[in-house]
Amino acid sequence: MSSEVLDRGLVLDAVRVTEIAAIAAWHMVGRGDEKEADQAAVDAMRTALNDLDIAGEIVIGEGERDEAPMLYIGEKVGTGKGPKIDIALDPLEGTTLTAKAMSNALAVMAWAPKGTLLNAPDTYMDKIACGPGYAPGIIDLDASPADNVRALAKAKGVDPSQITACVLDRPRHADIIASLRSVGARVYLITDGDVAGVMNTADPDTGVDLYVGQGGAPEGVLACAALKCVGGQFQGRLVFRNADERKRAERIGITDLDKKYDLHEMVRADAIFAATGVTKGALLDGVRLEGGFVHTHTLVMNSATRTVREVRMKRPV
Ligand code: FBP
Repeated sequence: MSSEVLDRGLVLDAVRVTEIAAIAAWHMVGRGDEKEADQAAVDAMRTALNDLDIAGEIVIGEGERDEAPMLYIGEKVGTGKGPKIDIALDPLEGTTLTAKAMSNALAVMAWAPKGTLLNAPDTYMDKIACGPGYAPGIIDLDASPADNVRALAKAKGVDPSQITACVLDRPRHADIIASLRSVGARVYLITDGDVAGVMNTADPDTGVDLYVGQGGAPEGVLACAALKCVGGQFQGRLVFRNADERKRAERIGITDLDKKYDLHEMVRADAIFAATGVTKGALLDGVRLEGGFVHTHTLVMNSATRTVREVRMKRPV
């Protein structure tokens, strides 16, 4: 749809924001307190955003205004002087991973021109994703996981047993896992963090071909922004557990509650995506302290230029 492009200079600004949030969360790694870890990352990210010359509006954030005092949906951030942008963020994706010092916790954020990111409610979403290099429509949320494995295997010219699918380890995914295994696919189970789970499909080093399962809808938008930058595919459908969740969606303007979204409907223009590792994972190293310096590792991507950069930063503690 839109071909609006964000200024390239914003790429480094985005890196600084996720770096600062990751360092703040890292102080809480392994301390058993999800809330404190999240709060530290939120405070740091909000301060960093407010220092920037942008007219940003949080589209995916910490929740609705009445339940999240900071980085709530609709909050305006930045000095207001720069470009008008939609912001999707999760200052700490993997609060439990952080509290328990487990791998794959990230600070993540996506920027796109105003009005171009799906305003997703804080509900679940059924998701399916694969990396770049396949014909459009190769995966289908409405096909069985087994059929999706067969389709990817055929396109890759391999047996289905050579396909690996990443799935959140939850009882609700028992049927999905059984369907994947029925055709011999390997199932890579993760305990949390499905933004990283989806991103795995775009990195051949992870060995993951497919992501499937139900996770947070806001995380779905963030994952789409990442995949948009590298050319992967994604489909998602909101899942409502009760009338209140349906109302939340209607309140933010969603009229077709059963809609199957594709990546370009969730991120409707070129986007910048940044993720900094909090704890070490398949995609990124975590924050670490060495020789009096704090080190960070960030992946930053710009869909307009299809550039993917890894940025390593160190600064004195
Ligand atoms: P945290 O709340 O610990 O940060 O977990 C995030 C997450 O694992 C997301 O990546 C995922 O989309 C969602 O939670 C899954 O939700 P649930 O834990 O309810 O299955």
